[in-house]
Parts: sequence; C-alpha cells; structure tokens
Amino acid sequence: MNDNQCNRRNFLKVGLTLSAATMVAPANAIADIARNDDEFKIAVGPYLQTNFNHSITILWLTNKNAAGWVEFGETAENLNQKAYGKTELGLMQANSKLNAVTINNLKPGVKYYYKLVSKEIKDFQPYKLTYGETVTSKVEEFINTDVNKEEISFLMMNDIHDRPESIPLLLNLVPAKKQDFIFFNGDVFDYQTDEKQIIDHMLQPCVDNFAKQTPFIYVRGNHETRGKFARVFPQYYMHVGYAAFTLGPVRFVVLDTGEDKEDSHPVYAGIVDFDDYRIQQAEWFKTEINSKAFKKAPFRIVLMHIPPRFSGDAHGPKHCTELFEPLLNQGKIDLVLSGHTHKYMVHQPDKDLNHYPLIIGGGPRDGARTITKIKANKNKIVVSMLDDSGKEVGAYTALKK
Ligand SMILES: [Fe+2]
Repeated sequence: MNDNQCNRRNFLKVGLTLSAATMVAPANAIADIARNDDEFKIAVGPYLQTNFNHSITILWLTNKNAAGWVEFGETAENLNQKAYGKTELGLMQANSKLNAVTINNLKPGVKYYYKLVSKEIKDFQPYKLTYGETVTSKVEEFINTDVNKEEISFLMMNDIHDRPESIPLLLNLVPAKKQDFIFFNGDVFDYQTDEKQIIDHMLQPCVDNFAKQTPFIYVRGNHETRGKFARVFPQYYMHVGYAAFTLGPVRFVVLDTGEDKEDSHPVYAGIVDFDDYRIQQAEWFKTEINSKAFKKAPFRIVLMHIPPRFSGDAHGPKHCTELFEPLLNQGKIDLVLSGHTHKYMVHQPDKDLNHYPLIIGGGPRDGARTITKIKANKNKIVVSMLDDSGKEVGAYTALKK
C-alpha cells in the first residue's frame, strides 16, 4: 500500500465522523453565480445533511469568498450560540464560497432555530484581511432527531437523472411529509458538468422543498462518477460515499457501488479504480457486521445504488453480487433498497440466493418514477413504493426475526 492509499483508507475509515467543515472550496466554485452580480449574498441554502448522532451539518453557498458562522438557539428570539466551520488543522473555514458548519452535541428531539451569517472577504493579504458586507439569512428551524426514538420514517428517491422537476413532484405525493431524512439513492445527475448543474438540478429543489428543515443523505450512483466535475462534486455535500449510522431501531449501512462497467473500459480513460474501492468497502462492511451497533440493532437496512443482484451482467453489478451478497446474507440484512435498473421491482427473499428482500426504485421517465416510503419500529419495517401518479406499485413488510 502506498502513502496515498494509506491516507485514503484512513480518510474513508473515519467516514461518518468526518466533519464537513474540512471541505475546501475549489478555486472556481460558484464562478457562475458571481458573474454579473456584484452584490454579496447567500446564493444557495441553507441545506441540511446529517448522519444523526446528535449532530447536523448546515451548508450554504455564497456568491463570493466569505467567512461565516451559524447562530442558533432553542427559541427564534434568542439565537445565543454560535458555530463555525473548522478545518482539521486549526483554521476556521474561510475564503471560500462553500460554507459548511457542523453542530455537535445537540439535545435529542429538541427544535432548534438558526440563521446563517456570512462576511465577504474582499481582500486576503498575508497580514491584512479586508472584509466587505455582512449578510444574514432568515431564521430557519430543524428538529434534532432523537436517535433513540421508537419509530422512524424516511423517503427514498433514486435515478432522477437531471430532471429536477421530479423532486417536488414526487415529494408532493407523500401526504405526511415530516420525515427523519430524505435519501437520494444515486444518479441524481447524468454526469457532472459544473456547479450550476449541482445547484439547479439538486441543491435548489432540495432547499425549496425540504432541506432547510429536514436533512438529506446521499450516496453516489454510477453516473455521479462521470464527467469533468466528478472530482469536485463531493465538496458540495457533507458526505456522498459509504457510511453506517444508527437511527431508532435501525442500523443503516450505505454502500457506494461505483461504476457499472469494468475500470479498464475506454470511456473511463484509465482514471478510475472502482474495483479497489468496492473491495475496501467489503472489508469495511465485514468489520461493520461485527460491530456492537450493528449486532444490537433490531433491524438492518442497506442502501446501495446498484442492486446486489438482478441488474444485469455488467462488471459492476457482478462485482457487487460477488463482494456484497455474502455479507448481506451473513449480516442477516432485513432490507436492501436500490435503484439503477430504471424498473421498479420488489424481489422477495430467496433461501438460496438473496436472503434479504430487495426493493428497487424506478427510473427517470414519466410513469417509471417512484418515491419509496419506509417506516420502522422495533417490531417491523413497512415499505410502500408509489409511482409518479401516487399509486402504490410495491410494498413489503419485514417483521422482527
Ligand atoms: Fe445507475
């Protein structure tokens, strides 16, 4: 293992504890927003992401480089606490258009009010920093989900494929909207082109519809790995890779399934290594299966874009079956939720193959789109998949074994 691999492995190992505040903006971030617009402003956000554990990350984009913080409190009138984005090396996050502040040690089940404050950095000299305008957002609110709550609920969307109008359309089909989180199971985009695409096709629809109050969790699909902006894209999020977390009666495992074609395929031009990445995840998943948190949870749900089987003979899907299915069976996973095939389907457990039920969400086109509702308590998981007319097209109940 060379140094880079070692560092990467250590980086991946920290997974969920990684602070979003360690992100550094690329030099060209928000270039499009800043053009023809001299007034300093909060351009996008706030949007919330979390992996629970009584912490939340608040992200926003300014149109020019800035320093900033979040003011928060338990009443709208008294935002008496402040949180800053911090880098790993003692510096506060600043001189960036991407802003991310993680607040830790929140009280279980408590509603918090918050607002963003950003100060434009007009000039950054080694010994003299010149601030410009200060802007603030409206006061917003979120509930810090109690990780010990008895019943949880979330929604899954997948394979939006650059059709941002699908996000509000699908969310409007769900009558009771208060969810613990919204999960994007990959392929929100066709490929990564630029920042404007990330904003217009995902961040803004999320901000407009739920993300100021309700966090989202996101894992890449195979399409998010493509295009010239794929290496910058993760910086707009708290987390888009593999992860594990506990919420209520469920231990969640998120796998980042990588590309569907072999790494040597000409379209990847020799610059991807998903075989190694999937092998690393399988090693990590083995450790996860033996963890206390995994073993003691009443239920275990795995979220992964490429299904662990039933998605064709391409290299990526086959590698997922080979690496992950034995672990899904060994770990007695209660439910796997996937996308990728663009054909919604409920696959029942099979005693010889997939010991777990597999629910695959639909595709991007009208009539094939789905939103999947999941509720769980310590006795059962109930899944209901709706198509884009609101009709239930798939259902599954998993009882405590
Ligand atoms: Fe896909």
